[in-house]
Amino acid sequence: MSGDVPVSDLKKDQARAELQRLSILLKQANHAYHGEDAPNISDAAYDALKRRNLEIEARFPTLEQPESPSHQVGATASHGFEKVEHSIPMLSLGNAFDDSDVVDFDTSIRKYLGLPTETALFYTAEPKIDGLSLALRYEAGVLVHAATRGDGRVGENVTANARTIKNVPVSLNGAPDVLEVRGEVYMSHADFEALNENQLRAGGKVFANPRNAAAGSLRQLDATITASRPLKFFAYAWGSVSEPLGKTQSQAIARLADLGFSTNALTRVCQSPAELIEHYSSIEAQRATLGYDIDGVVYKVNELGLQARLGFRSTTPRWAIAHKFPAELAWTRLEAVDIQVGRTGALSPVARLHPVTVGGVVVSSATLHNEDYIAGRDSTGTTIRDGKDIRVGDWVQVYRAGDVIPKVADVDLAKRPADAKAFVFPTLCPECQSEAIREPGDAVRRCSGGLICPAQIIERLKHFVSRAAFDIEGLGAKQVEQFFEDGWIKEPVDIFTLRDRYGAGLQQLKNREGWGEKSANNLFDAIDEKRVIPLNRLIFGLGIRHVGEGAASLLARHYGTWDKFEAAMSGASIDDDETWEDLLAIDGVGRVMATSLVTAFHQTAERASIDRLVAKLDIQPVSRPATDNSPVDGKTIVFTGTLEKMTRAEAKARAEALGAKVSGSVSAKTDILVAGPGAGSKAKKAAELGVEMIDEDGWLAMIEGF
Ligand code: IVH
Repeated sequence: MSGDVPVSDLKKDQARAELQRLSILLKQANHAYHGEDAPNISDAAYDALKRRNLEIEARFPTLEQPESPSHQVGATASHGFEKVEHSIPMLSLGNAFDDSDVVDFDTSIRKYLGLPTETALFYTAEPKIDGLSLALRYEAGVLVHAATRGDGRVGENVTANARTIKNVPVSLNGAPDVLEVRGEVYMSHADFEALNENQLRAGGKVFANPRNAAAGSLRQLDATITASRPLKFFAYAWGSVSEPLGKTQSQAIARLADLGFSTNALTRVCQSPAELIEHYSSIEAQRATLGYDIDGVVYKVNELGLQARLGFRSTTPRWAIAHKFPAELAWTRLEAVDIQVGRTGALSPVARLHPVTVGGVVVSSATLHNEDYIAGRDSTGTTIRDGKDIRVGDWVQVYRAGDVIPKVADVDLAKRPADAKAFVFPTLCPECQSEAIREPGDAVRRCSGGLICPAQIIERLKHFVSRAAFDIEGLGAKQVEQFFEDGWIKEPVDIFTLRDRYGAGLQQLKNREGWGEKSANNLFDAIDEKRVIPLNRLIFGLGIRHVGEGAASLLARHYGTWDKFEAAMSGASIDDDETWEDLLAIDGVGRVMATSLVTAFHQTAERASIDRLVAKLDIQPVSRPATDNSPVDGKTIVFTGTLEKMTRAEAKARAEALGAKVSGSVSAKTDILVAGPGAGSKAKKAAELGVEMIDEDGWLAMIEGF
């Protein structure tokens, strides 16, 4: 092998061949290390390959390629894709599962806008493409940036890769100065089959379905691989634009088509829920022959002015919804029921299944929800599945709906083995043997072990490092388990003291397979990077029950800084009406979440653990969007009487979007009372308290232009 030949003795042809080989080996090593979290060579061997690559290039400068591994310096290349913040978040869609949800969608939009049923309201209806979303930014007609959705706020820079997609224009004629086109990258069925055949022949990765193939192909560190994959793009939306694309959704999409984007030919303008449903049925009937995967139909309010008025909930627009196709089904045998313990101690039964293909994906486990579900009851005690229970050995029906975890839906009693026994749900935690308690009214049985239960600790730590929380490069679920087993990490703060504790020699870490000095230092650097953390990620990372990603963002936006959030949580008490009502007044915070938050901050051990963590962090405040110079930012507003130009819901949402707090009752804390005709006791009270009072026109004038 030429690798054994001293560089000074290499001939040019040998050098060229060896550079190619080195490039492949280094790419594989990078991918194994960063993409799969499974290093395939030692750090020393990696360094030696890189050194040899550099030495050969130094001797034969003309052989140096633009994509040479020696150009991939520093964190960006080795840590995968550069991150990009979306100028406008890339949101997801709410779901409709049946016709009544579609009718409800129309009703709630009309209610929000105050539109009577006799007023026409147009929608577009178009296929929901099962791929991955991509944002393409054009400046002066040139494609300058492409980003994946990521967590919706921050995506990955895949510009080089997107440029290789054949129907993505790299330049546009007559486009607005700034134009961010959004749409879906996908792979057709025929291209997917051909790619998998090729992969099989070449000993490469075989993809489970076209969506995975599209995602795997777009997210390649080497854009030449993306270029060799048959990806396609449908444009269906936009982000920042320097001038409007049209007055309606359908005009805007037609404009994108004129500019050279592929748009979906099955897009229709419909006038009623009945028409939407009719178009849905027609698309569903064509589904099998379309040649690409779709998983539903997306409905959007057509008029862009109305879309703007409707705005967004925390993660989804009010003006659009995805009407999903029914889930895919399959029958298979239930081989065992495992009990998993989650981060909040919930005991979740998981069905271990004889592997079966459901909608193109092999499924070998599925959720069984909780003990009532296995027994054939819902949480109110009412029978489900005609009261049929589920037993190990049974034939069960499994279904998948979109991305969600497969579920067990039904059981075939005719095929039940004679010796099958009813499943007995454990009353002890299988991980720590503590009692597992089911509170009245709770469908879930929970381990009472708290922080003595290793499963809960590990799950909390995994949650802490997960993508929407601290997202530490190189510290995934696998590594957290390893570190916990080795006794290095017991609570989140331990992650941030790892470098100090192991700085002396890194000996223990070094002895672990896959951890050399270089990878350990990379890990510590990645950890240090996350000491600076946005407030929303920290709140989510704490893993407080009922506080999901959306709620964490909501709380972060509301309080702005850790100090304010912490003071509110520590100060709030269920026994104190005022602090409690303040918390509940946040749109999106209900009693259950509020109780959970307050409890977490009042539990001594948990609180101490949070304080230890916070001391090691630099928490970035989160600003409220669109509240710059807002005349009502931080003010408390009460609406009363009849509003004639907008509904109460719309007025409330607008005020909140501008940074105001909307309250239902007038108190000394109220800054503004917006009073329409028929205002009664609230107006009287406001007058007594000297609160500023304006009418609806006054309110509209106040917020005009914001
Ligand atoms: S509109 C503000 N239209 O579905 C919402 N999304 O579940 C903008 N998707 O993340 C999205 N086909 O990746 C829209 N025709 C379509 C779509 C579509 C597929 C995806 C998209 C989005 C996800 C939401």
